[in-house]
Amino acid sequence: MRVAIAFCVAVLPLVIGITWNPPDNIVDFSLYQIYPRSYKDSDGNGIGDLRGIIERLDHFTESNVEAVWLSPIYRSPMVDFGYDISNYKEIDPIFGTMEDFEELLKAAHDRNLSVLMDFVPNHTSDQHEWFQKSLQGIPPYDSYYVWHAGRMENGVRVPPNNWVSQMRGSAWQWKDERQAYYLHQFSIQQPDLNYYSPDVRREMKDVLKFWLDKGVDGFRVDAMIFLYEDKRFLNEPLSGLTDDPNDYDYTVKIYTTNQQPTYDIIPTWRQVLDKYEQPKYLMLEVYSNVSDTMKYYHYGADFPFNFYTITNLTRNSNAADIQYVVESWYDNMPEGCTPNWVTGNHDQHRLISRLGEPRARAITTTVLLLPGVIVTYYGEEIGMIDEYISWEDTVDPEGCRAGKEHYLTSSRDPERTPFQWDDSVSAGFSSNPHTWLPVNEDYKTLNLAHEKKEKNSYYALYEKLSALKRSQYLKEAMLVTKVLDDYVFAVARETEDHGSVYAISNFGDTDSIVDLSVFDNIPSKLNVYYASAISDILPWESVIQIRRVTIPAGSVVILTTPNADFVTD
Ligand code: GLC
Repeated sequence: MRVAIAFCVAVLPLVIGITWNPPDNIVDFSLYQIYPRSYKDSDGNGIGDLRGIIERLDHFTESNVEAVWLSPIYRSPMVDFGYDISNYKEIDPIFGTMEDFEELLKAAHDRNLSVLMDFVPNHTSDQHEWFQKSLQGIPPYDSYYVWHAGRMENGVRVPPNNWVSQMRGSAWQWKDERQAYYLHQFSIQQPDLNYYSPDVRREMKDVLKFWLDKGVDGFRVDAMIFLYEDKRFLNEPLSGLTDDPNDYDYTVKIYTTNQQPTYDIIPTWRQVLDKYEQPKYLMLEVYSNVSDTMKYYHYGADFPFNFYTITNLTRNSNAADIQYVVESWYDNMPEGCTPNWVTGNHDQHRLISRLGEPRARAITTTVLLLPGVIVTYYGEEIGMIDEYISWEDTVDPEGCRAGKEHYLTSSRDPERTPFQWDDSVSAGFSSNPHTWLPVNEDYKTLNLAHEKKEKNSYYALYEKLSALKRSQYLKEAMLVTKVLDDYVFAVARETEDHGSVYAISNFGDTDSIVDLSVFDNIPSKLNVYYASAISDILPWESVIQIRRVTIPAGSVVILTTPNADFVTD
């Protein structure tokens, strides 16, 4: 086992923690997810675009981001805001042109910023030419999608089985033209491709090559687990979680997710990527149990995304819970692989809205100091929160499909509102006062320009930590974590020759006095690199004794050893 679990009974409370030495070959950088509709609008139509991203590339440099992933920018009817693709090799005019994309790629590379695309292999739009031809039964497109004649029940034709769509209701949709049902694991307008067809497999490899030839640095693979379905088309067992057959949780997904061929296809993609000289990354969207998730590491992906800080932490989590989430990834990940940490994305409520600000700060602090790849969803670096979106303004297909009664629990619009750059019109996102989703009402004070001036802002913390993450010395440093109190969690990165850093987060509502001598090899005095609470207790750049350190309630303190030279390396 790679993780040494240290139990120390010398101090109260019981200090538990892990140590982990990052292997040399792991990938370690800070990745930023751009949701292009919401990052920056350059032409005043209220929707973000590629030229907007070009205009604001400095933000990545200033925030020590090393790679960006663009949510889909391909041609699309936008039913699922780009995750329904009608042409994989064209840019949707709403975002700009291919020339804009090429300019963006060059400008990013000139700044040493890698660019990853969203690869959406599971389904296309129903407007895709392939689907239109499949509908008419034209070979070879007739077998590009998953078609089934259904079953006869009391003389009535019904879908082949009880499979449920992620967006509610049967995953099967009847088409008179084909006299058959097609499978759609997402919205009706997103028919699933049939990966048993060699033509489909070839087409999708061509898509990868097309973008790699343009110079992109890799892919985030959308909805990876859904690629193949069991060919017997059997009913899935009932979960017992709900009586509603239209609810996605009605069944256990033993025939529609994580099928063996889904794993086997990854090496065939890897081969395509490995033909290029520069490293190309493959990161998979996988929401699954630990064993099915970890299995993806063995097939040539850089990693399946680690969503456990999203799925396994709540507003009540304590420091031991955070410790458990961190530890369980290291514990289960195969030897020599790259860990990764995702704290938010366009499908999840925002970090602060899920956990409250003190816990959110603790998580941001923790993940930015962990080895491997960390993923920041746009806006989380300034602590953006969900905005209330009325039923009338709801545009997300998942929210719309849930209906007026239930949309609030399903809609993903609240976490997709425009980035808050400053306190001008539409938060500086657009010159247009009307934007595709309303700007969050809090933008007058919660915006990047304002936070850059505030020492204890969310962005100030993010910027301080991301500078550390970028340091080559720290990328190689040993990781040590400790639970210091019920709501106090500490992460350290220790080097032998270049100093060490200790970040302590107290997300409780009382101050906590901690003894940092529980860390082996810690010197008796440390420098305050950053303290989020404005107080006299821990002024920045002061020197403190390690045996009794007061960590104010709801704050983060980052301390470095006097010999630390990674801050400027
Ligand atoms: C992924 C995307 C989500 C999309 C779905 C269908 O889960 O993250 O936004 O709706 O796939 O493509």
